[in-house]
Amino acid sequence: MIGGVLAKDLVREYKSPLYVYDEEIIRKNIRAFQGYITYRPFSVYYAMKANPNLSVLKIVKDEMAGIDAVSANEVRLALKAGFLPRQIIYTGSNITDEEMDFAKEAGVIINIDSLSRLEKFGIRYPNSELCVRINPNAKASTHTHLVTATDDKKFGVSYREIGRIKETAKKHGLRVIGVHAHLGTNIFNAEEFIYMMDIILDSAKEFPDLHFIDFGGGYGVSYKPGEKNLDMGSLGRAASKRFEDFCSAYGRKLELKVEPGRYVVCEAGYLLSEINTIKRRMLPSGDVKVFYGLDTNMAHLARPAMYGAYHHIINADNVDGEAETADVVGNACESGDFLGKGRKIAKAHEGDVLAILNAGAYGYSMSSNYNLFARPAEVMVKGGKARLIRKRETFDDLVRGME
Ligand code: LLP
Repeated sequence: MIGGVLAKDLVREYKSPLYVYDEEIIRKNIRAFQGYITYRPFSVYYAMKANPNLSVLKIVKDEMAGIDAVSANEVRLALKAGFLPRQIIYTGSNITDEEMDFAKEAGVIINIDSLSRLEKFGIRYPNSELCVRINPNAKASTHTHLVTATDDKKFGVSYREIGRIKETAKKHGLRVIGVHAHLGTNIFNAEEFIYMMDIILDSAKEFPDLHFIDFGGGYGVSYKPGEKNLDMGSLGRAASKRFEDFCSAYGRKLELKVEPGRYVVCEAGYLLSEINTIKRRMLPSGDVKVFYGLDTNMAHLARPAMYGAYHHIINADNVDGEAETADVVGNACESGDFLGKGRKIAKAHEGDVLAILNAGAYGYSMSSNYNLFARPAEVMVKGGKARLIRKRETFDDLVRGME
């Protein structure tokens, strides 16, 4: 059951493969997050790269959160969803002059990621306001591709270059009204967040015009049954206390911002896919190698193939049946196209629907058309009712613009 609807019925109605989101879980997660930080003023800026579906954004807006956008198109979509420009922080990487001009014109908060962009911004928009992304060289225990705040990662301006930020800002009369950092993603160690926070607060005291400090996202969500979640309650209390102390010393109350993406949508999402091919291959050893072959693939959910990420998988047609061990594989032309390896799943038959859990974050948003597979439809479920929030792609969608 997802939000009061049987997964099997959803697939019957909307076909397979299908992304499904549970609206109540998204709302619950945002509200929980808003409660963890006791310091005020505090605001949550949802990192829409996790899941930018317009219907998701409208729920986020309804829950009084803002938006962290990474591209001009994300900014455009956030504006379309009804967010005010000041509720959107634009944290791009290697942005172009056109993107900078667009963001300035749109009036969103611009978070500058490099000294060279700071200089260009200053020349073009002297005497204006901006935010600067600091790289605090703070490590995080997560997959190496998911670490963002160390010297060897491309993001931000090093905390050792604060002097140069100040010089450039002074030269152009710029007011640094925000300082930003983002540690990485899917991090479970609260101390690592606090360590980063200390470096950022130390840098922040160098800027007298601040309105806010933004500590980014990265809050870990458990993907494996029984795995412990990040203790957001105690992290929130520790962070609030530190921020309160910082503001006392700074002489003014600043706004504290955070940018959770995964935390908001991950567990709300499911990728449903029908098994159309089962292979039970007899090996010379006498063992049997089992493959559950789906009508979806790594192009629709890249995380397992890309990071070796674990997504729990259940058989929606036979939830509690006797388990067998199988590799859950996709229909793309890649040996690395798997959604789960060596999984114990209730014994399946062709035609059964598998539910791949925790697929709400970085699922559809990272999907592609590799092998010219059309992307799945997306459905939002609430109180026993489902509604289509994005149509399944068609062949025409895939070839539009080709000559
Ligand atoms: N703020 C900034 C500046 C970010 O770059 C990100 C994520 C977030 C906030 C939100 O982080 P979250 O709370 O969702 O961890 N594709 C990867 C995740 C990449 C995240 C990139 N930045 C994955 O599937 O795990």
